[in-house]
Amino acid sequence: MAETGNDTKLAAELLLQGELVAIPTETVYGLAADALNERAVLKVFEAKQRPFFDPLILHIASLDQVQNYAELNDERLAGLAKTFWPGPLTLLLPKKSNVPDLVTSGLPQVALRVPDHALTLDLLRKVNRPLAAPSANPFGYVSPTEPQHVQKQLGDRIRYVLDGGPCRVGLESTIVGIEIDRLCIFRLGGLAIEEIEKVAGPVELRINNSSNPKAPGQLKNHYAPKKALYLGDLTQLAQIYKNKKVTAICFGAQQNQIPGLSSILNLSPSGDLQEAALNLFRFLRLADEDASELVIANPLPEQGLGRAINDRLRRAAVRD
Ligand code: TXA
Ligand code: MG
Repeated sequence: MAETGNDTKLAAELLLQGELVAIPTETVYGLAADALNERAVLKVFEAKQRPFFDPLILHIASLDQVQNYAELNDERLAGLAKTFWPGPLTLLLPKKSNVPDLVTSGLPQVALRVPDHALTLDLLRKVNRPLAAPSANPFGYVSPTEPQHVQKQLGDRIRYVLDGGPCRVGLESTIVGIEIDRLCIFRLGGLAIEEIEKVAGPVELRINNSSNPKAPGQLKNHYAPKKALYLGDLTQLAQIYKNKKVTAICFGAQQNQIPGLSSILNLSPSGDLQEAALNLFRFLRLADEDASELVIANPLPEQGLGRAINDRLRRAAVRD
């Protein structure tokens, strides 16, 4: 198993030797490698069993480092970076030639963000290089929001888990970029659209579902637990599966629709979307590991973080 601790000096040394280190961020845990070392980046793809067509996000220590790796010429994107970094926002920007093609899967743009976690910012300053880090889960599975999640699934494949406690946001970063001069969201995430529009004006959604998407993490069966998850009206689903052992994931007053069920995980009894975001991936893991045969869930209100939560639930759900 990987060693766990909060030693950023050791973590920096390992990264500079080309080893993998799991890092805490405010969104989810990342599986980090020195982004300028292609051999190290290759190890990330191997450890996650991630296809090479799915590019990685570069994590940097501060806004003024962007210019070393990308062009930040669009005023709307610059305004977003100034307002929300460090934070759960990733920008797609034209890349500079020093960023390895392996990191961007050969795409002309690189994804960049400044994560909001004191330990990881300290680590980034110590390594003084960008870190390429996808979420620290096997490809396609639910993202880790606690160090134990990483240990359990990837502990035998990495050298060190930098323990920064449970993640504060619980959903991956929102990915924003420009397409033909339009401001577009390529992945819904921990920064709500409403917040983005307040700063940068109207955005369009480019949430891709095809099998050859622009942000390939958007494959339709992503973020998925191993058990079948059915998404819909809880009363109806509970009725349909009444002869099975069911775990229900619900939100606020939805719980009252399903009085008969023994296993209920309420994302936020008080109906707080931020709390729900924080609990989502942990609950998907709990439901995947408990004694139930299947999981049922009801979409949340389509507003604020509710949109990103519903996006993850849809991708986790069984499709016909
Ligand atoms: O919150 C987060 O973003 C977390 C933490 C660790 O920072 N990271 C994360 O990484 O979620 P990952 O690899 O699981 O998801 C990154 C997404 C993928 O859907 C990928 O396709 C997209 O970003 N992406 C990365 N680079 C891209 C690029 N150059 N062009 C288009 N999409 C890109
Ligand atoms: Mg991921």
